[in-house]
Amino acid sequence: MCGIIGCVSEGPVSGILLDGLKRVEYRGYDSAGMATVNDGKLSVRKGAGRITDIERRKHLSALGGNVGIAHTRWATHGGVTDRNAHPHTSCGDTLAVIHNGIIENYIPLKTRLQSKGHVFKSETDTEVIAHIIEEEYGKRSDPLRATIAATRKLEGQYAIAVLFRDRPDVIVGARKDAPLIAGIGDGQMFIASDILAFIEHTDKTVFLDNQEAALITKDSLKILGADGRELSREPTQVAWELSNISRTKYAHHTLKEINEQRQTVAAAAVQDPAKLAAFAGAIRKAGTIFITGSGTSYHAGLLMKSRLNHEAGIRCDTVVSGELKEHSAFLGKGSVLIVLSQSGETADVLEAVKEAKGRGAKVLSIVNVAGSTLSRESDQTLLLNCGPEVGVAATKSFTAQAVVVNMVVDAVLGRKRSEGVEELPKAVEEALKTERQIKAIVQKYMDRPDFYFVGRGYQSPVALEGALKLKELSYIHAEGMPASELKHGTLALIETGTPVVVINPSGENHADTLSSSEELRARGADLIGISDVEDRVYKHFVRVPRVQPKFMPIVEVIPLQLLAYHFAVAKKRDPDYPRNLAKSVTVK
Ligand code: M6R
Repeated sequence: MCGIIGCVSEGPVSGILLDGLKRVEYRGYDSAGMATVNDGKLSVRKGAGRITDIERRKHLSALGGNVGIAHTRWATHGGVTDRNAHPHTSCGDTLAVIHNGIIENYIPLKTRLQSKGHVFKSETDTEVIAHIIEEEYGKRSDPLRATIAATRKLEGQYAIAVLFRDRPDVIVGARKDAPLIAGIGDGQMFIASDILAFIEHTDKTVFLDNQEAALITKDSLKILGADGRELSREPTQVAWELSNISRTKYAHHTLKEINEQRQTVAAAAVQDPAKLAAFAGAIRKAGTIFITGSGTSYHAGLLMKSRLNHEAGIRCDTVVSGELKEHSAFLGKGSVLIVLSQSGETADVLEAVKEAKGRGAKVLSIVNVAGSTLSRESDQTLLLNCGPEVGVAATKSFTAQAVVVNMVVDAVLGRKRSEGVEELPKAVEEALKTERQIKAIVQKYMDRPDFYFVGRGYQSPVALEGALKLKELSYIHAEGMPASELKHGTLALIETGTPVVVINPSGENHADTLSSSEELRARGADLIGISDVEDRVYKHFVRVPRVQPKFMPIVEVIPLQLLAYHFAVAKKRDPDYPRNLAKSVTVK
């Protein structure tokens, strides 16, 4: 959940680190800090707050030196304070460490270190790493071997970068169950949790595998495997457009990404026919099938299950990744786990994959980030092709997932092409035109504490997604559910003026959802209908274009994304960086 970057260069690094840090700020934004080595001195500047804040208060970019590390934090152990911000240093300030992950055994380690005289300056789990490396470095003046020896004492997950005061020519990195990537530039080398951190400088990357460690100098990369042996690995070229990362004319990344859906639905549809056929073939041949993902990706998984069940007659279940273990007794040889994830780094998702692979199941993934841990752990992968998604709220990745899962189901059904996919960019354009109307709805319901979202069948995942977006961006309490469930309890909460969003396209469930709407209206609810067909039951009607039923969630979710975004802006919340959250949840 934290962003880390380290750089060794021919020239000064603080500006490079600061820019990189801003690019990975979406991973965590409680605190930030930087350490460099210059003229034999290790300097650390850090504090609680957003990066621009820390830069203003502590002048990170004024740090001199051609080697440095920087960190943006999403707090796990220890409150959001200046002292708990990374980097953390050893007793004698001989080295500094940044960390993404959780050290599960930090309490016994800390107790032992304290009994040996180590003095701790923070409440974090991370600080133990600095003290243990200090001990190991005292035994052998080899930064890489000392770091590896220290990591052997750690339980939990980590991606770390270590800076040594007496070695201004190197940075050491190590990882276990958290991503770490090296970037190979011209006269400069990087180590980071995310390609975005250094993509402005190089698109040549080397992905470290689990339990590997690396040492970078300005012009070399040395990797040691879990067994301590040196490995050679060819760099991969990454193709993400840098221009996609800036907000351009939009006020926020989230709004930019909502608007980009015109293009991204088309990009998602560009799939290699052979890969798609192989993916579908593996599903057809599978015994037990589970679909998994977290948050928004889970909602896309529900769409997939619905069509596999109803149209392909394939029995499968969608479970949230954090709960997959509860179902894993059914997974074994011949089973398939279909995994959806934007980042490909979500800890719950990777844990589910580990569980399934351990039982001999095949892993088929649909992921946005090429080269992510998920894509590398999978037997087969289809990419979402929607470019970097920086806003914490998943927007364009959800509609890209809706495109890809439908293409997969169509391939399972033996269809050569996904009918209706070509009309999506125009339909998205139409759906985006609902923005003015949505803004008016936001003004009307600014003071309402609760929102409800309902839909039937294929539209219930859209209701869940609408509620999730509203909660995370505007902090308004929201619930999404199948319209049929209302009368089993939630109807008791409906009173005069309670806003309820009804997602109700034309089709087989339309009449039943209208009946649920009448029940809601009779209890005083203000209904906001999202549909291609109007009805007098709705107090507000938001028309979305009619597309193939399988693609309706794409045009329905867009006004819901806009609703959440505009509520956030109207309530003066930062939609790109909602409180308490981070884009990639890389801790359990
Ligand atoms: O990167 P992933 O798709 O695996 O992320 C899963 C969830 O953490 C993510 O969808 C989260 O729920 C979003 N913030 C929702 O907008």
